[in-house]
Amino acid sequence: MTTFDFAPLLAPGLPPPAVKWTGFPKYNFVGGHNDADHLPLDALLKAATDVLAREGRTLATYGLASGPLGYRPLRGFLAQKLKRTAGISCDADEILVTSGSLQALDLVNALLLARGDTVLIEQATYQGALTRLARLGVNAVGVPLDAEGMRMDALAAALDDLKRCGVRPKYIYTIPTVQNPTGTIMSAARRHELLRLAAEHGVPIFEDDCYADLIWDGRRPPALYAMSKQGGVIHIGSFSKSIAPALRVGYIVAEWDVLARMLPLKTDAGSGALEQMVLGEFCAPHFDAHLPRLTRGLRAKLETLMDALNEQFGTAAEFDDPKGGIFLWVKLPDAVDTQKLFQPALAAGVSINPGAEWSTDASYGKSRTRLCFANPSHEAIRAGVAKLAEVCRREFGVPDRIANVEQRARA
Ligand SMILES: Cc1ncc(COP(=O)(O)O)c(C=O)c1O
Repeated sequence: MTTFDFAPLLAPGLPPPAVKWTGFPKYNFVGGHNDADHLPLDALLKAATDVLAREGRTLATYGLASGPLGYRPLRGFLAQKLKRTAGISCDADEILVTSGSLQALDLVNALLLARGDTVLIEQATYQGALTRLARLGVNAVGVPLDAEGMRMDALAAALDDLKRCGVRPKYIYTIPTVQNPTGTIMSAARRHELLRLAAEHGVPIFEDDCYADLIWDGRRPPALYAMSKQGGVIHIGSFSKSIAPALRVGYIVAEWDVLARMLPLKTDAGSGALEQMVLGEFCAPHFDAHLPRLTRGLRAKLETLMDALNEQFGTAAEFDDPKGGIFLWVKLPDAVDTQKLFQPALAAGVSINPGAEWSTDASYGKSRTRLCFANPSHEAIRAGVAKLAEVCRREFGVPDRIANVEQRARA
């Protein structure tokens, strides 16, 4: 059989073709996968049975009995949770449930961005945000970070520079509460300064609070959305990191006039209803008790990862202890190019995220890597880091000591 040739018919400007999935690597440090052992499976099973027995027939209508914003009990839970944890006062009708927060990113971008626009974004940031901006032809100006997140002196300078060139950025995208990939939390004082600068320049803030539930000590400053006196903040969040990414449930918090412009762009006739119903049923009684169990497990894995890196790489691996989340942002010596490390590491069964793909500045990201520690077991973390050190030494001569053993003597 000859296959039909679609190539001449393809729309212009498509992204490169996907490669076929061949299973997870043995030592998987990529993506934002969660810890399978801490998935609250029994309670989710019970929630699914209970909610379907009670309300299953509402599946016969698009949007259940809740309308296009998403399952009402889930939005009700979110409204009270956001008030309690992030200080956000919003009505359930100011929350739009999305198919993961990736759809939230797409909707905010669709609402605000056109080819040639400029946005400000943390210098190291979520790859999914960067690739979207690149595909939209939007100029992403990176703002350096320090231990407290986006640096306000650098933001002020970038805003002034753009103003001088007659450019009004469409938004400032920030992950202020457990930043991806650096794991920092922006202080309340810095949040005030960010809001002040944004208001002074008439630029909205796009706040991505994807990891805000995963803080080791559970303490966080209020959300920018909550602190803002004059609006101008769009807030997004997700259940991917607190419960499970495969559920694909995220949300947008915005004033109704913003959501009213966004809803017509959400052309999927509603996000998957079953997962919203199950989460709505699960969260009210169980969410708060689930979180500390999850974060304790994540913290233990982070410690295993940091110990393994210290043991295998010694001073060649530099990192700050993140305040929460599922990632460690690691700086290797300048000689290492993590994009070139990627393939040989993968061939040895270790997948890593090269830093250049998580940065607006390839030279800053070149010898950095993001390691996700949530999914691999403690044993896989230890073995994977040992393998990575072996490959890295073979390819770049770094580290010159592995597991505190002088390798040069053996070579
Ligand atoms: C900062 C950030 N925002 C959004 C997302 C998208 O997550 P999801 O669509 O699973 O909610 C991720 C995923 O890793 C992320 O790191």
